[in-house]
Amino acid sequence: MDAVETRPAVLILLGPPGAGKGTQARMLEEEFGLVQLSTGDLLRAAVAMGTPAGLAAKAVMEAGGLVSDEIVLAILKDRMAEPDVTKGVILDGFPRTAGQAAALDGLLAESGQRVDAAVSLEVDDEAMIARVAGRYTCADCGEGYHDDFKQPVHAGVCDKCGGTAFKRRADDTAETARARLEAYHAQTAPLIDHYDHLGVLARVDAMGSIADVRAALGGIVAAITV
Ligand code: AP5
Repeated sequence: MDAVETRPAVLILLGPPGAGKGTQARMLEEEFGLVQLSTGDLLRAAVAMGTPAGLAAKAVMEAGGLVSDEIVLAILKDRMAEPDVTKGVILDGFPRTAGQAAALDGLLAESGQRVDAAVSLEVDDEAMIARVAGRYTCADCGEGYHDDFKQPVHAGVCDKCGGTAFKRRADDTAETARARLEAYHAQTAPLIDHYDHLGVLARVDAMGSIADVRAALGGIVAAITV
């Protein structure tokens, strides 16, 4: 029997702050073995390490704006060159501008890849402010929680790793969340049409429970990873 040629799957999660991109990406990563690539996480790591990119990005992120395409693309290319992405990637929060989308298409074409699915997580703006403002994560493993929607089973103890220290993001104030929403509508939402024209767009109602959204996404990912 001839060997079946497989190439790494590429899934994009589009959606405003608080839509659930990170929450869902982590669950899909565990189930399907794809690697979550969050440009937000990569940028926060660069800020924490004090790299030149991190120093340039810090103030922009704290104000809720978008970091320059040049910095984001450099960070993403480095991450995509690492060996663990062979089964495929979930791009969480990337691309966010027309320039990033064009650069991604070029980068993927170099290795015979393409975007297999782009999912727009569709949500209500005001609900997103509440989701973002109540969010916190385990300081040890990064598992995400929320004051109202997802608390640890045992108060103060991470379900995943047993850690007892938690942290909140500097840009998770209601004011900054509004600036991030504006940036999303002005610069990122137009990408929904871009991926619709390419025939790879799926829309998922992300106002439902985390489990319902997960179920809708699971069918999409299963179809691109067979
Ligand atoms: P980034 O880290 O990407 O943040 P974001 O896009 O604003 O998205 P969030 O992480 O806030 O939300 P999420 O959709 O992941 O929601 P989550 O799953 O956590 O970017 C941060 C900054 O970095 C940007 O502002 C920008 O400055 C910069 N940046 C990053 N990428 C860039 C790029 N490509 N170009 C330029 N700049 C870039 O869920 C939120 C909360 O809600 C959680 O507590 C969760 O438990 C809860 N929740 C999730 N789903 C549900 C549900 N269905 N029901 C109830 N609660 C839910």
